[in-house]
Amino acid sequence: MGKEYQIAVLPGDGIGPEVVAEGLKVLKGVAEIESFNYKLTHYPHGSEHYIKTKELFPDSVLNELKQQDAIYLGAIGDPRVEVGLVERAIIAGIRFGLDLYVNLRPIKLLAEHLCPVKDKKPEDIDMVVVRENTEDLYAGIGGFLKKGTPDEVALQEMVFTRKGCERVIRYAFDLAAKRRKKLTLVDKTNAIRAMDIWTRTFAEVGKEYPQVVTDHAYIDAACMWLVKNPEQFDTVVTNNIFGDILTDLGAVLQGGMGIAASGNIHPGQVSMFEPIHGSAPKYKGKGVASPVAAIAACGMMLEYLGEHRAAERIENSIAELLKTQKISSLDSSSGLSTSACGDLIVRQLPEARL
Ligand code: IPM
Ligand code: MN
Repeated sequence: MGKEYQIAVLPGDGIGPEVVAEGLKVLKGVAEIESFNYKLTHYPHGSEHYIKTKELFPDSVLNELKQQDAIYLGAIGDPRVEVGLVERAIIAGIRFGLDLYVNLRPIKLLAEHLCPVKDKKPEDIDMVVVRENTEDLYAGIGGFLKKGTPDEVALQEMVFTRKGCERVIRYAFDLAAKRRKKLTLVDKTNAIRAMDIWTRTFAEVGKEYPQVVTDHAYIDAACMWLVKNPEQFDTVVTNNIFGDILTDLGAVLQGGMGIAASGNIHPGQVSMFEPIHGSAPKYKGKGVASPVAAIAACGMMLEYLGEHRAAERIENSIAELLKTQKISSLDSSSGLSTSACGDLIVRQLPEARL
C-alpha cells in the first residue's frame, strides 16, 4: 500500500454533510483502486454546533488542523445565526489561521450542454482563477462609528501588502508556466489607486517568467470578457474580493454551483478543499443537492496531496457521466438523488480513462 494521508473533515451546515458524504464515498473508492490509505478526523463545527454549544471555532481545533495533511470542508452558513458569524469564524478562521494565501478556482466546462452561453464548447472554457485569500476587504480592518445614528460612519479597508501580492502572483506565474503560458491580472487600478501595488508587483515578478505572456483586464471588463470570450483566459490572478465575485460568474459558465470546486492552499502546508457553493439551507436533508462540486473538491485535494492518478480518475469520471448525460444536469432536474449521483461516480471510477 502507498502513503497514509491525515484528512480533517468538516461537513458543516445545510447540504454540507450530504455532499461531503458522497465525496467520502468517492475517496474510499478511488483509494482502493489507486492503493493509498487515509485517516479521517471528523469535526462537528458549524452553525448547528454553535447553536447547541455556543462554541464557534476554538484555537485548539485550529492547532489540531495544523497536524493534518488536508482539510475537506462542506459548507458553512445558517439563517438562524447572525449573518457571517460562523463563516468568518470557520472559513476565514481556517484561511487566515493557516495562511492559505491561494484560493485556486478552476473554471472548466466538462460538457457542452451545461454552459448557458450559446456556442461555447469545452475547448473554449478551461481556465483557472488564482484568488488572493488572506488580505483585501477580508482582512477585517474596519468598523462603525456612531452606529445606528444619523451620523453613522462605516469603514472596511482594502488591505494589500507587497508580500501578500508577490507570493500569490508568483504562484500564478508558476501555474501559468505549466499551463498555456498566459496570465491575466484582473484589478481596478483605474478607480482604486492602491491597486497600483498589484500592477507593479505583477510587472516585476513577470520578468522572471519571460515564457509567460501577460495580459490585464479591469474587473468590470473581465466579467464581460468572461462571458463573451472565455477562450481568451488561461490563468487569472486577482485580489480576494474580485476573485470571489468573478468565480461565481465562472461557476455558471461551467454549469453552475453544482460543479464548481476550490482549494485554499499554502504550498507545502496543510490546505483546505471545499465546493464553492454555500450551505443552501432550504435543500438541507432533502437529498436533492448535487454532490459533484464536493466530489470535484475531493479530486482537487488528492491532486494537491500528489495522488495525480486518483484526481484524474475523479475528474474523468465526472466528465464522462456529464457528457453521456447519465448525470444530465447539476440541479434537481437530473432526477438523481444526492447519493444516487455519488454512487454513479463511484461506479465510474474503475472505467475512467487515464
Ligand atoms: C466563498 C464564499 C466566502 C467568501 C464567504 C462564505 C465568506 O463566498 O468561498 O467564495 O466570500 O470567500
Ligand atoms: Mn464566494
